[in-house]
Amino acid sequence: MDIVLGLQWGDEGKGKFIDLISQNYDIVARFNGGANAGHSIERYGKRITLKSLPSGIFMKGVQNVIGTGMVLDPVNFKKEVLNLRSFDETIQVEKHVSISKKAHLVLPTHQLMDVFMEENSSYTAIGTTRNGIGQAYANKILRQNLRVGDILSPDFTDRIIHILERDYNQLLSYGQILPSLEKLCEDFFDAVEFLKRFEFIEAEIFLNNSLSEGKTMLAEGAQATLLDIDHGTYPYVTSSTTLAAGACSGLGISPKKVGEIYGVAKAYCTRVGNGIFPTEIFNDLGEEIRQKGNEFGSNTGRPRRIGWLDLPALKYAVMINGVTQLVLTKADVLSGFESVAVCTHYEIQNQQISVMHGLFIDDEVQPVLQWMKGWDEDISNYDDASSLPEQLKNYLSFLEKELKIPVSYLSTGPGREQIIKMD
Ligand code: GDP
Ligand code: IMO
Ligand code: MG
Repeated sequence: MDIVLGLQWGDEGKGKFIDLISQNYDIVARFNGGANAGHSIERYGKRITLKSLPSGIFMKGVQNVIGTGMVLDPVNFKKEVLNLRSFDETIQVEKHVSISKKAHLVLPTHQLMDVFMEENSSYTAIGTTRNGIGQAYANKILRQNLRVGDILSPDFTDRIIHILERDYNQLLSYGQILPSLEKLCEDFFDAVEFLKRFEFIEAEIFLNNSLSEGKTMLAEGAQATLLDIDHGTYPYVTSSTTLAAGACSGLGISPKKVGEIYGVAKAYCTRVGNGIFPTEIFNDLGEEIRQKGNEFGSNTGRPRRIGWLDLPALKYAVMINGVTQLVLTKADVLSGFESVAVCTHYEIQNQQISVMHGLFIDDEVQPVLQWMKGWDEDISNYDDASSLPEQLKNYLSFLEKELKIPVSYLSTGPGREQIIKMD
């Protein structure tokens, strides 16, 4: 099993890369998160953003699996499938996607509670995507949640109605103005019926058997290392394990079976939502990169915060994931800048720190930037590593030396073909 995951704060371009390399695999399995992800893929000159569907869906012959580590919102999922169908009616989604019976359900009340906590000043506002992700995982950990497999049990309707009524009344008692419970239930049960068109599987058995039969598999991570619940910049993180280790636990695959671990990083950094961001750029340059890179959330449309490439954060991410190959995206966005900066280390209370640890307090961190000569050429149609501008080659060599892993792919635009295999 190979793994693809994000090394920064998400939106590194994982979807685009997985869409491309899924041609090398029989199975693509998502291992964490839910509809908080937005994995954009360009096809036929149009863009679609996948949320819960794995990014192998456009590759003919690939079986896509919604893994046990995920949380699935039936209402959101139905919309996503219908949207995909109108985007490309040739894809037989039901045939090429199967769902782990042990994946947890996101209920409408989870989503309402997420919004309530984000908007109520007595809680810490995380800047979530408001999809109820944290609530679903919290209920999973509390052992109060229902799973996809429960849909097939005879008392499912009664159990769901009990939970929805209970949580709805709790929200009402907080003074929330809510849509009617009848409408919530109607939409939810309608979406559950739709979900039944998909095969619910014992995902661990299916995936392990497939590997034993010699099939190849790619584990797809959502969110990214610095949003990991344990090792990210807590509390401004998501609620799942986004790391390589999460691929094993979220899919039920032994660590012994892991092969390549592709870490995807942008040539600069972005972050949506609140929380520490040591290399954040606050001036016009940040706005210029945001516009050039179209840095607006694929999921929520929020403007992404922009910062320079952060080596201490990347070294940390490479270390805790055991990344074997770097996939660098969006270097094309930096074309035309006279010089580009890389943060080589932080200064914290007069100490130099070269590897992040996720516990910093924003105000204390001074990023130390190294400026490098930029490249002028528009590289978005280059297909050969040897013809890249010298300054970009220097920049890539610098990263390889610092991170001690090869840059294996250089993505030069959003399209599937806009990528250079570097060796
Ligand atoms: P993901 O969540 O990691 O899959 O990333 P997103 O899809 O949320 O955000 C990445 C955005 O950048 C999408 O709009 C992609 O189409 C786009 N993209 C991906 N790779 C490149 C690249 O190399 N250059 C440019 N300019 N855009 C890219
Ligand atoms: P992909 O897979 C970028 C961020 C949110 C917020 C925090 C918690 O597209 O890279 P949540 O809704 O998960 O409770 O929000 O995490 N976040 C993401 N940021 N890309 C994502 O996914 C994200 N998923 C969650 O903005 O700061
Ligand atoms: Mg995204």
